[in-house]
Amino acid sequence: MTIPYPNTQPVPAIAAVTPPSGASRPRVTFLGTGYLGATYAICYAELGYEVLGFDVDADKIAKLNAGEVPIHEPGLDELLRRNLAAGRLRFSTNIAETAEFGDVHFICVGTPQRADGMGADLSYVEASVTGLAQHLTRKALIVGKSTVPVGTAEWVEQLVGKHTPADLGVEVAWSPEFLQEGFAVDDVLRPNRIVVGVKSEWANGMLYAAHKGVFDLAATEDREVPLVVTDFATAELVKVAANAFLATKISFINAMAEVCEASGGDVTQLAKAIGYDPRIGNRFLQAGLGFGGACLPKDIRAFQARAQELGAGEALRFLHEVDLINLRRRTRVLQLAADLLGRRSGPAGPDLSGTRIAVLGATFKPNTDDVRDAPALAVAALLHKAGANVHVYDPQGMENARRAVPELTYEPDMAEAVTGADLVCVLTEWADFRNADPSHLGDLVAGRRIVDARNCLDPALWTQAGWEYRGMGRP
Ligand code: UDX
Repeated sequence: MTIPYPNTQPVPAIAAVTPPSGASRPRVTFLGTGYLGATYAICYAELGYEVLGFDVDADKIAKLNAGEVPIHEPGLDELLRRNLAAGRLRFSTNIAETAEFGDVHFICVGTPQRADGMGADLSYVEASVTGLAQHLTRKALIVGKSTVPVGTAEWVEQLVGKHTPADLGVEVAWSPEFLQEGFAVDDVLRPNRIVVGVKSEWANGMLYAAHKGVFDLAATEDREVPLVVTDFATAELVKVAANAFLATKISFINAMAEVCEASGGDVTQLAKAIGYDPRIGNRFLQAGLGFGGACLPKDIRAFQARAQELGAGEALRFLHEVDLINLRRRTRVLQLAADLLGRRSGPAGPDLSGTRIAVLGATFKPNTDDVRDAPALAVAALLHKAGANVHVYDPQGMENARRAVPELTYEPDMAEAVTGADLVCVLTEWADFRNADPSHLGDLVAGRRIVDARNCLDPALWTQAGWEYRGMGRP
């Protein structure tokens, strides 16, 4: 498959439209009920739309129809049950039913990193679009939400053209999402902007109608949600550019942490001081173990791969450095552990055999159960590989962590994890860990040594309680 070079086009106006189903508001479907699709489906029902969520995974669909959210996301359970009961929301594995139901179909399937390189794997996009298109019997709008390489929307349009009769007039649009795990419900109901890539006034009108619930909610709360209407290529690029910027900001401060480590500075003070400049801003300047999760790492790699294909590889070469800085933070924790435990490093890294290490945190950030590309879990695995006996506790991520890295020992609570430990590593900044009592934990451990890989503890408090403390980029 070759993704076409995107065409530039004028931005169309918003037309007043009647949904092809004859309903007063467009009926919406979400294809793929993973993190993105499930959250959107549930929240759009909450906004008053008639919604159908589709997935090929029968287990997931059965759970959702039974009122069970397959992910940990604050507030979502209650909204799911309320909207199922109201009859506005249901889930199905039947693609013909999905095609028949919807006016606007949002594609929300995953676009993981390809097994054979840095680019995005578009096979789920291809399968869902093709499956849907083959069953459409009237005009509809297919809207991509998944994060994709620029040019994908054009390719999806070609796919749709191949699988639907021209006289149906099925159209394509792109509307990226900017959900943060842990805040996903609010990010859907109260987004800080809506971006749509469209080619026709009809598509623009349908998308406007499909987002009107969001604009209406904002009006009742005396807010405004900015709408950016643009071409396909820009809409696709907005998402990856935003994630590349966020990743760069995090790696920037982590690079400063490296310099602080070499020079005796304190990166937490440095971040605070530069963040007061409104041009810089203080958010996303938390130096520590770096970024992980299902988006930032894979998105910056796919963005580089796509830029390379387009002949613009040089423009994004810095993202390679962003990735390297990020990964170096993981080995830094290993070094700090070896230092505190008095172990020397050989060519293969430190030998930690015979030590017991408590790892607090497995998820890629707090308030989620997601361990995909989690720096915490990667460090736990590195410590284990270096010979340490690693005992892990995470408030929500235990099940997923155990499945991903079964060779570690998982403990039912923080006390069990730290009991008898020679070293404690805080790798995800859960509130439970931030608020832990250093004296109480000190009574349980074999040695009062702590690596605070998220700079989330008060060094003075821990040092006073007799702990040897190491942070990231702090003296
Ligand atoms: C991110 C984007 O924020 C979101 O807009 C996009 O839609 C999907 O990707 P998410 O993956 O949920 O969202 O996590 P985010 O809150 O952005 O954090 C990403 C990672 O960066 C986490 O591992 C977090 O611990 C780390 N991080 C974040 C830092 O290391 N320092 C910071 O200052 C901020």
